[in-house]
Amino acid sequence: MIRKEINISYREYDFADELPENERILAEKAIEATNRSYSPYSKFHVGAAVKLSNGEIITGANQENIAYPSGLCAERTAMYYASAAYPDIAMEAIAIAASQNGRLCELPASPCGACRQVMAEYQTKAGKNMKIILAGAKKILVFERVDDILPFIFDSLK
Ligand code: THU
Repeated sequence: MIRKEINISYREYDFADELPENERILAEKAIEATNRSYSPYSKFHVGAAVKLSNGEIITGANQENIAYPSGLCAERTAMYYASAAYPDIAMEAIAIAASQNGRLCELPASPCGACRQVMAEYQTKAGKNMKIILAGAKKILVFERVDDILPFIFDSLK
């Protein structure tokens, strides 16, 4: 038996203006997208912004439904939109933000397992890391690749 450990490194910022400019711009797009959330049931407005390798930024927001399971998270709304519009273009980064009562949440929203799995799919498909930026008003986290938020990603043990 061998006991093993995994180490995940990520960047954490207290102020958005400390982020590299391209990351700050993507985070701002995710924050803007929270305004386009349709979330009458949870009133939790999530926005996501996907940066494509052609420079385009695609945004999405969570879409709820009176039949609750029919709704979709902001991240998957944005990624599916990006993939449907630009099937052959890699997604280089995704930023996520959430707001409540008209204000950006202090701590970032962390994507659910299903959204992480969808990120994993597109990262594998592109053969290129997808960066994840979780933007809160008082804390911003940046992960360089999906593996860092989804260890033991499907097929990673090959
Ligand atoms: N939600 C997202 O859109 N993304 C997340 O990362 C967390 C949760 C949505 C789902 C639902 O519409 C609302 O937030 C409350 O859970």
